[in-house]
Amino acid sequence: MTSIAGVIAEILISPPSVLVVVATAGGILTATGELPLESFIGFLVFSTVTTAGFMTVMMSVHPLVSALSVSHSIRELLSSPEPPVPDQPVVPDPETPEPVVRIRGVRFAYGDTVALDGIDLALERGTVTALVGPSGSGKSTLLKLVGRFFDVDEGSVRIGGRDVRELGSTGVSRLAAQVFQDVYLLEGNVADNLRMANPNASDDDLERVARVARLDEVVHRLPRGWDTRVGEAGSALSGGEKQRVFIARALLKEAPVVLLVSHDDELLALAGDGELHLRLLREAPTICSA
Ligand SMILES: Nc1ncnc2c1ncn2[C@@H]1O[C@H](COP(=O)(O)OP(=O)(O)OP(=O)(O)O)[C@@H](O)[C@H]1O
Ligand SMILES: [Mg+2]
Repeated sequence: MTSIAGVIAEILISPPSVLVVVATAGGILTATGELPLESFIGFLVFSTVTTAGFMTVMMSVHPLVSALSVSHSIRELLSSPEPPVPDQPVVPDPETPEPVVRIRGVRFAYGDTVALDGIDLALERGTVTALVGPSGSGKSTLLKLVGRFFDVDEGSVRIGGRDVRELGSTGVSRLAAQVFQDVYLLEGNVADNLRMANPNASDDDLERVARVARLDEVVHRLPRGWDTRVGEAGSALSGGEKQRVFIARALLKEAPVVLLVSHDDELLALAGDGELHLRLLREAPTICSA
């Protein structure tokens, strides 16, 4: 039901509307002597009470339908297959002559939708790579394959000379820090949100990565600085500023590869602009953004 049709239906069956219709029709019938007065009053009371009850039932059905749809999505998410875990996860060889990330002949489809086919790419140490292309061309999917959210259908993704399927998802998450488009901050304060990446990080480490990600200016603006709870901060921070928290967190992880996914011009400028670009690179040897 469209919202306009829904509103009209609600008005029509609401107790006042029913009361007006029943009172008018019943009043005419009683005045012409076709309906006894006591029946008219009985009708009036009965119709008002039943429509009020009907409205209550209708209003409880709506949240129930929403809850069922949410529970369906949650069940679908929980039942989606996870990439298989290797028996003996390997670690990459830091001396390998291979590029930090090497993508070869990759094909990947979501069901029948082929998102990527025949993709080759090398991300060398000390470089920033920007993936640019029309919406739906597969940029986010490519970075998700590097982060091993899914396994490729054909070809391979290697980090530090090792196939991500051999490294295992935990190994991959240590090597490739990710900053995605949909940024959700967790409960706790801003410092907690960064320390998730590295619980042993000192205050100086936090300040250092904040400067690189330009989070320092945001923290200075917050009423209680690093101790500001993100519940308060979440509403005070723009999407781009929340992404800075994520970049700082990714840098604190000291992973060799940072993957940034953004439509935010400011964030892309952050990864692309001269001095910052160099500062980011000093912290993270290889950056890929889409
Ligand atoms: N979870 C999914 N299930 C099914 N199809 C998907 C899913 N995610 C992406 N796709 C499809 O895969 C293709 C590539 O999507 P992807 O998100 O990688 O594109 P993109 O280049 O990042 O686009 P954008 O610039 O809009 O972010 C698109 O055709 C998209 O509809
Ligand atoms: Mg995308």
